[in-house]
Amino acid sequence: MLEAVHLTKRYASLPAVQDLSFTLQPGQVLGCLGPNGSGKSTTVKMLTGLLQPTRGVVRFDGHNIQDNLAAYRKLLGYVPEEPNLYPYLTGWEYLELIGTLRGMAHSDLEKKIDSLLELFSLHPNRHASIGSYSKGMRQRVLLIAAIMDDPEIFIFDEPLSGLDVTSALIFKNLVQALGQQGKLVFYCSHVLEVVEKICSDVLILRKGIVIAQDSVANIGQILGQSLENTFLHLVDDVDTMSVARDIVTVMKMKAA
Ligand SMILES: Nc1ncnc2c1ncn2[C@@H]1O[C@H](COP(=O)(O)OP(=O)(O)O)[C@@H](O)[C@H]1O
Ligand SMILES: [Mg+2]
Repeated sequence: MLEAVHLTKRYASLPAVQDLSFTLQPGQVLGCLGPNGSGKSTTVKMLTGLLQPTRGVVRFDGHNIQDNLAAYRKLLGYVPEEPNLYPYLTGWEYLELIGTLRGMAHSDLEKKIDSLLELFSLHPNRHASIGSYSKGMRQRVLLIAAIMDDPEIFIFDEPLSGLDVTSALIFKNLVQALGQQGKLVFYCSHVLEVVEKICSDVLILRKGIVIAQDSVANIGQILGQSLENTFLHLVDDVDTMSVARDIVTVMKMKAA
């Protein structure tokens, strides 16, 4: 079980995440939903051990992850929001490097990389440098790198960014399959339709504070409406139609 206990992160004195707690059991797909700047990536960085919380602790199977980060990271498949890929390596070389760093057996590795590149439609590009890849292709390399060692815990930070429709659908089905396999999945997104579809549970962040936390089914039911309405109700005090109209008005403005 993965546990976040009263996680708080301040940058300088600004709070980015405040008092966030949850438990994540095998088989659960926990969605972390919130608009830009609400603290999702900060939460993810604390869960992966990249950032030390200002207060609170992350535990896996009862142990503070900071006590043995190397062992914890071996169990972790992480897709960061910003792809830090080496542009001069080919897709194949990058995956081989990651697999080797993770200590995967070399015979397994080659077969897995080959099959996964095929399944993610990257096989024809495997020997081209990553610098020549589109954003969606880079994202697929990151996804392969995160899953190929069959980790127990998956942490995805906006994993669909740049993906085409087919790859996005494959990935959404994959996340559900991971849940069914008894993996632990933490899935961050600002897109509520996706979270509604593929997550079993959701926590909604607003300005670093958890404003709702429940199963996806319950959250809709409590307020007697879909997650979309709930989300808008909780997060956005913005009249999106009127803002869109105002933008068009400004766009059409001509200098007098
Ligand atoms: N390294 C940083 N230094 C200072 N402030 C940061 C840093 N990273 C994020 N923030 C701030 O913390 C808040 C939460 O950001 P973030 O976790 O990236 O949100 P999200 O991923 O939901 O868009 C924002 O106000 C952001 O400006
Ligand atoms: Mg983010």
